[in-house]
Amino acid sequence: MKHIFQKGSDPEAPTLVLFHGTGGTEQDLLPVAQIVSPASSVLSIRGNVLENGMPRFFKRLSEGVFDEEDLLIRTNELHEFLGEAAAAYGLDRTQFVAIGYSNGANIAGSLLFHHQGAWKGAILHHPMVPRRGIEIPKLNGTPIFIGAGTNDPICTPQETEELEQLLRDAGGDITVSWESFGHRLTHSEVNTAAAWFQSHWGSR
Ligand code: MLT
Repeated sequence: MKHIFQKGSDPEAPTLVLFHGTGGTEQDLLPVAQIVSPASSVLSIRGNVLENGMPRFFKRLSEGVFDEEDLLIRTNELHEFLGEAAAAYGLDRTQFVAIGYSNGANIAGSLLFHHQGAWKGAILHHPMVPRRGIEIPKLNGTPIFIGAGTNDPICTPQETEELEQLLRDAGGDITVSWESFGHRLTHSEVNTAAAWFQSHWGSR
């Protein structure tokens, strides 16, 4: 998959794996990674589905309605890619922390829903419930940060609470941070996520 890899200065710091929103690229969240953990290695991936020329991580049938078959294929493809990238760049696959926004948060969340131990932790900015009606692999206390909007028209507060409950029920350690800027990823949300990251894995 098309991606950027940047080697960090601290080999002990978790590797940040970045997933942009619809229409974005692997460049978008690099500044976010700098704020969250400047010494971490960064693997930033470009979604390999195109919707009217806009990169995404999986197909959708309409706004907010996912193509579940494609979601599963892309989730597995990504899971495989992460293993290959860990081997290629000499990274510890168990030390990967996801940062995703919108469609990118949805694919990072889908990894949690389908693969045990997918992430050491995850920062999900404005995620939706990626799939319903399946048993989520045990999360065993995996720390997960959800940035949500009280007035987000795409990821509604009801859906945020549903996702929070599903991840909690699977044993995740969930933190939800609410703002009121719709679906936007704001500086203050990034700063809150950075403080959350640093409370778990230190300031690097
Ligand atoms: C999705 O399709 O993943 C969500 O609707 C978020 C987005 O607009 O990309």
